[in-house]
Amino acid sequence: MNALKIEVWRSEPNGFLQSYEVPRLAKQTILDVVTYIQRELDATLSYRYSCRVGMCGTCAMTVNGIPRWTCRTQAAVYDEASAIRLEPLKNFPVVKDLVVNMDEFFGKWKKAGGTFKSAAPGLNDFATVRPDSSARIAANQAIECIGCGVCNAACDVVKWSPDYLGPAALNRLWTLYNDERQSGTDDLLAQSLSESGCLACHTTQSCTRFCPKELDPSASIAGLKRSALRAAF
Ligand code: SF4
Ligand code: SF4
Ligand code: FES
Repeated sequence: MNALKIEVWRSEPNGFLQSYEVPRLAKQTILDVVTYIQRELDATLSYRYSCRVGMCGTCAMTVNGIPRWTCRTQAAVYDEASAIRLEPLKNFPVVKDLVVNMDEFFGKWKKAGGTFKSAAPGLNDFATVRPDSSARIAANQAIECIGCGVCNAACDVVKWSPDYLGPAALNRLWTLYNDERQSGTDDLLAQSLSESGCLACHTTQSCTRFCPKELDPSASIAGLKRSALRAAF
């Protein structure tokens, strides 16, 4: 077949799936498909992307019901006979079509205290963090988060409890808690234990399963729980 069948969720007038046919190309990503639709078929379609190479986290959408980074998702992996369904990320307010509002998502990072605060403010030499220190090893992988929101879209607790800080913000807390340059790590731990923090996590691991960077936010949350328990004793 030379054309891909695509169904795209359109927000206006009342939310519906619009069908398109897009020429099939070698090595075509889902983001390429959406870009083709917007440039060649329907300029009113709204979507978001920036880097196109898996760095910025802005292109996440729901593809056939699964949250994904679309710039690194090949169209060829989908069944040729069926339409590919593209929708905005779940658990986020929709701005228009495939664009979601990330304000609350990043607001939760702030609310959780996920901001670096230097333990030695002022102009100093670069801090030396030993690559083999246990704290560095514990948080190393989690630092690679690109803030795409896929984990929050995959999390049922985020869906049921809008106040839940969510896997991305808690993953960020875990990196700061293990950062020896950070001040106030006890406060971070206390914050992670708030009603909307890590104790609300049901350890279903959907966040880990779908994270496009193959990070493990569920393990970060477990690390926060363990550290809090240790601190309590
Ligand atoms: S492990 Fe926790 S944060 Fe991750 S998807 Fe499940 S409930 Fe959400
Ligand atoms: S933890 Fe993974 S899925 Fe969640 S925001 Fe970061 S990169 Fe995206
Ligand atoms: S466009 Fe930057 S991660 Fe996809």
